[in-house]
Amino acid sequence: MSTAKERTSTKSTDVNAVNLKAIDLDSIDTVNPAPAEEPARQYYFMKKCREIIRERELEDGRRQTANVTTFGCQMNAKDSEKLRGILDVIGFERTESEEADLCLYNTCTVRENANLKVYGHLGYLSNLKKKNPRMIIGLCGCMMQEPDVVEKLKKSYRFVNLIFGTHNIFRFAELLYQVLEGQQMIIDIWQDTDKIVEDLPADRTYSFKCGVNIMYGCNNFCTYCIVPYVRGRERSRRPEDILCEVERLATDGVIEVMLLGQNVNSYGKTLDEPISFAELLKMVEQVPGIERIRFMTSHPKDLSDELIAVMKQSSKICCHLHLPLQSGSSRILKKMNRRYTKEQYLALADRLRREIPDLSITTDIIVGFPGETEEDFQETLDVVRKVRFDSAFTFIYSKRTGTPAAAMEDQVPDDIVKDRFNRLLTLVQTISQEMSKRVEGQTLPVLVESVNDHDDSLVTGRLSNNLLVHFPGGRDLIGKIVDVHLTECKGFYYMGEMSCETMEEDLDDHQSGIVF
Ligand code: SAH
Ligand code: SF4
Ligand code: F3S
Repeated sequence: MSTAKERTSTKSTDVNAVNLKAIDLDSIDTVNPAPAEEPARQYYFMKKCREIIRERELEDGRRQTANVTTFGCQMNAKDSEKLRGILDVIGFERTESEEADLCLYNTCTVRENANLKVYGHLGYLSNLKKKNPRMIIGLCGCMMQEPDVVEKLKKSYRFVNLIFGTHNIFRFAELLYQVLEGQQMIIDIWQDTDKIVEDLPADRTYSFKCGVNIMYGCNNFCTYCIVPYVRGRERSRRPEDILCEVERLATDGVIEVMLLGQNVNSYGKTLDEPISFAELLKMVEQVPGIERIRFMTSHPKDLSDELIAVMKQSSKICCHLHLPLQSGSSRILKKMNRRYTKEQYLALADRLRREIPDLSITTDIIVGFPGETEEDFQETLDVVRKVRFDSAFTFIYSKRTGTPAAAMEDQVPDDIVKDRFNRLLTLVQTISQEMSKRVEGQTLPVLVESVNDHDDSLVTGRLSNNLLVHFPGGRDLIGKIVDVHLTECKGFYYMGEMSCETMEEDLDDHQSGIVF
């Protein structure tokens, strides 16, 4: 029998964060009812889940495994780190395989194909569940905030055990406990929230770099975009909470942070004590141990002179700005509700190139927005030629139900869109290859991220401008910033050699026993 439980709307006030380090799961009393305050309540349920997971381990004679698959953007990647952290505390063993005791998909719905991918995977999961009937299948993230999706899942995907959205991921342990107790389909979707729950566990993908949410949601309502509907209204975190997290990360060995928000340039405007994004950057720069700062995403309409000045004088803020254009036609930009014109974008890009000549400018472009004519498309190509983007993500417009653009007339026929998309891609790639070559022959700092996927005598790292570099080196370099001579540009990445000075320093470090 189905025991679907639903809650569709909750608004609540801020919760007082408690210090993560102060919580000791073993000391939590699970005989008494759960505490009401967060995040203590979630730690209570983590312990309750852990008790059940330990019983299952004994029954099965093995550890219980969990797989979290992430679709979509950096926000979702960050959320998945939190979900994995909770699963770790509960006692699951992490696996990359979907043949797991718990499989959780953190979904994206920004374009229809992101959405279709999830349904495709669900068919596969249902087969796995036939082999392991106790398998828990969970879905969360942006797609779950769409009522039509949840209706479809309720009707045709009854084998899914747990469905929750973007506003309540902090309640994962509590919801999972209900599933572990035997309830078959738990659904908990909030329409919006003003709650920001801090200090839950997180499992970081990299030991040396980490994303940090500085704000949630979006207020811009670009007419094609579903994000404001599925991520809710813009909420900035308090600077002191952000700094506290960055300090904690730095103490833990993180040297690069990526500040995350849908529109970081409007950070702090709605705080009780408003501050600007540029001011926040200056504060983050002061955190000892942090050597690189990145941020994502900047909306052109809110990019201030103050930010350009801060970026220009900073030695820590990376030489990279992602500045989505979306379209080069002022007419289409107006229909998109982007609130800048072609001329304003060009002037901004010009100022950036002038003030920070090494800056890598990357972008997002949509082709085939309703009503886009060949003339409008030519305007886009014109901006691409003028700005000379270091790299660009190009997207075919995807109709998202509920957005104003979905109801617009003049949807552009598929064959025309595909032809424009191909022409744009060719231009973008040609320019991007030329721009990537800009630093060939130079010796620049590289943060080493991993052993090369294809050749384990090489390591792979990232330049400040976000380009990848492969060069001979060992695993011990991972997480370090080293100087690399960029010998050859191979289109969109570099082959290099570690500079002799860095190698000598590295040798000294080993000889003197310094461990990073
Ligand atoms: N907040 C960021 C973007 C988030 S979504 C910003 O404003 O720049 C990432 C990208 O997906 C967008 O920049 C846009 O280019 C693309 N995108 C969003 N909705 C889309 C849609 N309906 N169809 C095609 N591409 C879309
Ligand atoms: Fe979507 Fe526009 Fe918000 Fe970016 S700024 S998330 S494109 S509505
Ligand atoms: Fe997708 Fe949600 Fe990000 S819709 S792009 S995962 S904010």
